[in-house]
Amino acid sequence: MRVRSDQVENLKTGKFVSIHGEKQRFFCLITNLSLAVTHPDILLFPPTEDEPLLKELLGKKDIYATATLRPMLAVQKDGTLSPVKTIPPHFAPVTEATRQDIATIFGDENDVSKKYFTIGSPLDMDASVCIDLERLTERSNGIFGKTGTGKTFLTRLVLAGLIHQDKAVNVIFDMHSEYGLQARKEGNNQAFVKGLKTLFPEKVVIFSLDPASTRRRGGQADVDLTLSYSSIAVEDIISLDTELRLNPTAYEAAYLIAAKYKKNWLEVLLSHGDNLKEFANNVGAHPESIAALYRKLKAIERLPFITSGIQTDVITQMMEYIDSGKSIIIEFGNFTSTFCYLLIANIITRRLHTLYIKKTEQFLGSQRSVDEPKKLMITIEEAHKFLNPIAAKQTIFGTIAREMRKYYVSLLVVDQRPSGIDAEILSQIGTKIVAQLNDEKDIAATLTGVNNASQLRTVLGGLESKKQVIVLGHAVAMPVVIQTREYDEKFYTAMMHTMAGKPVKQLIEDIF
Ligand SMILES: Nc1ncnc2c1ncn2[C@@H]1O[C@H](COP(=O)(O)OP(=O)(O)OP(=O)(O)O)[C@@H](O)[C@H]1O
Ligand SMILES: [Mg+2]
Repeated sequence: MRVRSDQVENLKTGKFVSIHGEKQRFFCLITNLSLAVTHPDILLFPPTEDEPLLKELLGKKDIYATATLRPMLAVQKDGTLSPVKTIPPHFAPVTEATRQDIATIFGDENDVSKKYFTIGSPLDMDASVCIDLERLTERSNGIFGKTGTGKTFLTRLVLAGLIHQDKAVNVIFDMHSEYGLQARKEGNNQAFVKGLKTLFPEKVVIFSLDPASTRRRGGQADVDLTLSYSSIAVEDIISLDTELRLNPTAYEAAYLIAAKYKKNWLEVLLSHGDNLKEFANNVGAHPESIAALYRKLKAIERLPFITSGIQTDVITQMMEYIDSGKSIIIEFGNFTSTFCYLLIANIITRRLHTLYIKKTEQFLGSQRSVDEPKKLMITIEEAHKFLNPIAAKQTIFGTIAREMRKYYVSLLVVDQRPSGIDAEILSQIGTKIVAQLNDEKDIAATLTGVNNASQLRTVLGGLESKKQVIVLGHAVAMPVVIQTREYDEKFYTAMMHTMAGKPVKQLIEDIF
């Protein structure tokens, strides 16, 4: 697009525009801006400050700017949307997209289907860009960006949308206790934002590993999360490989113990601290491997929520909540070590996944709609720790990301270092929401398998350092740069509206 020289500064990369062709309109992103002249001599003899008239004259024809537009979607005269297979002709006029255009492309939150959710507005425009929540839940998704760009706020926003519109049940592994009750807002120490439990008390339950911490923050866990030694399988330990750095023979030793002592393998191992050699002989494992295994796993004894003996099974309890449509936040309180986060997330997810496979098979057998499992989305932060190339092959998270919703379970991965995630897993991610990233490797990783990657790369490079993201993939008709929706009082009010589209207060007044 040719841009008049005095208009250059009004345009930005990432801006949303529409080209009016003869037969169709093309929706585009501005992916690049550059200056141009009709003749190189102009640059050799530029107008001086004393020559405003010359400058004005040059501006009429000879100096201008070029905006590179990437057509992403075409709309035919009859309103149907289609992929772009052609280009607009010469001299086709370009205008800003209208609110109506945005609604046609991205859907309208007030649509009866209740599947659209506003996540922000296009750059410099007062309009709502929606994501299609139903399509979002059909795949695993990723939210990426360097630290402080607003990933957690955006994740909370998307989860609120899913919970509000009942599109998926969520299990959130909340390492820093930011999702449930309240979370601090940067900048002003006094400023807090509401958590999901506060917004949806009826639809969210908190499981806490550290109930005392939850109480100190002015809340109350619905369930104190404790797990027994017998709920830890060898697979859970293997998934901690990047933390434990054990020799493969140590894992073989673990399997040998498990072959003999079944579920009690870990407790038995930990009880043999003073006669490891004899124990190694007993199970037929290498004494050094057993000793290494013992040393590393001893850390588990210090975790107060891992207990011996029989107790109520929290995972069954979790499943009951999930069946009744309630989302679960697992708060780690002061147990913020990576070791702990990986261990707990793996144990719980592996068990839930097994239960979901059973449920799915049951549904396939009966084909009754009452048996259909609810869609489950599992949120993990620092996802590269679960899904790096080594872990992705061994852990339950890799399996879930690869099997693509066959069993109604998908992931929402949040990460500041997407290049650490296995490439195959990245290519399976349906919708990506990407904030500013500085590292070239991370940028390249988020754009693997994306059409027009090179153009989007410049757009990504132009994002502001906070609250600006590019959304691309399955849940949006075309890639778009947005200013993220503000997570504030106005948002809370919108979330407290009922499905009838009225505030709860209004509904009560209507009844009486
Ligand atoms: N949608 C939003 N509404 C209101 N404030 C926001 C929003 N997004 C970001 N912020 C502000 O930006 C700050 C940083 O956001 P956030 O904590 O989500 O970053 P992050 O990407 O998760 O960082 P980290 O990688 O360190 O966890 C927040 O504390 C908040 O003040
Ligand atoms: Mg965060």
